[in-house]
Amino acid sequence: MTTENENIEIQLLLEAIHLKYGYNFKDYANAHTKRRLKSRLVRSKMETYTDMMRRLIYDEPFFNQLLMDLSINVTEMFRDPWFYKKIREELIPRLKTYSFIKVWHAGCSAGQEVYSMSILLEEENMKKRSQIYATDFNELILEKAKSGIYPLDVMRTYTANYQKSGGEMAFSDYYTADDENVILKRSLREKVLFSSHNLVTDGVFGEMNLIFCRNVLIYFNRKLQNQVIRLFYDSLCPGGYLCLGSKESLKFTDMADRFESICEKEKIYRKKR
Ligand SMILES: C[S@@+](CC[C@H](N)C(=O)[O-])C[C@H]1O[C@@H](n2cnc3c(N)ncnc32)[C@H](O)[C@@H]1O
Repeated sequence: MTTENENIEIQLLLEAIHLKYGYNFKDYANAHTKRRLKSRLVRSKMETYTDMMRRLIYDEPFFNQLLMDLSINVTEMFRDPWFYKKIREELIPRLKTYSFIKVWHAGCSAGQEVYSMSILLEEENMKKRSQIYATDFNELILEKAKSGIYPLDVMRTYTANYQKSGGEMAFSDYYTADDENVILKRSLREKVLFSSHNLVTDGVFGEMNLIFCRNVLIYFNRKLQNQVIRLFYDSLCPGGYLCLGSKESLKFTDMADRFESICEKEKIYRKKR
């Protein structure tokens, strides 16, 4: 199959996903989408993307599998500990000057980022005057996030991350464990509202003081990055903060001059007043 024909088939497949299930992957980064589709094609022992398109139209569980492939849910608690250290040292003191703060985790995956922030707010005695919104477009992963249940074997990494981020409590105080899993303390979920939200097709989340959207924009093409950063700009209150992932940046985007960089390495930005 020529690359040109293959590209046409992929475009038709993405169109079919959009028409049938409402998910729009057309402006995701090409190389990423192709890699993911190719891998599913091989693993499903199918010959062409047209075969795959027919299958996903009639077979919803197959589509759900493909959605998992395309959405990439890799995450950790206190991922990039140096980032959370900066949040503790730089951002929390600024946020403490507000009587109430609203935090939005866009693309929260299975919730680890959300609970990390919840721990910080609890340790800083800010929980009572904060509300966290946690969204993702993948409903299956949101269910995991709501449960706050994670495999026991990742706790060693999470604990090390927490300590590197400046955490001084016993991390095990934040969960109970059985042979296989840990369940996070209920209090960490108290101020969190989980809901489905698609950054490509859904609207503004109003008057946020802080938005985390880490390791999501990296999968979008430039046009979609611009659209989503505009959405964040409109969702932030004046002076609100935006945190991106380590490989992401506002540089070279349409909205670059509407934000100031607060911490260059940690990719923390502030909406200009
Ligand atoms: C790699 S994870 C990042 C998780 C977390 N923010 C972190 O940095 O650890 C990317 C998440 O973005 C979500 N995502 C991708 N496209 C999205 C969209 N259009 N709207 C909302 N969430 C999306 C995926 O479902 C996935 O859970």
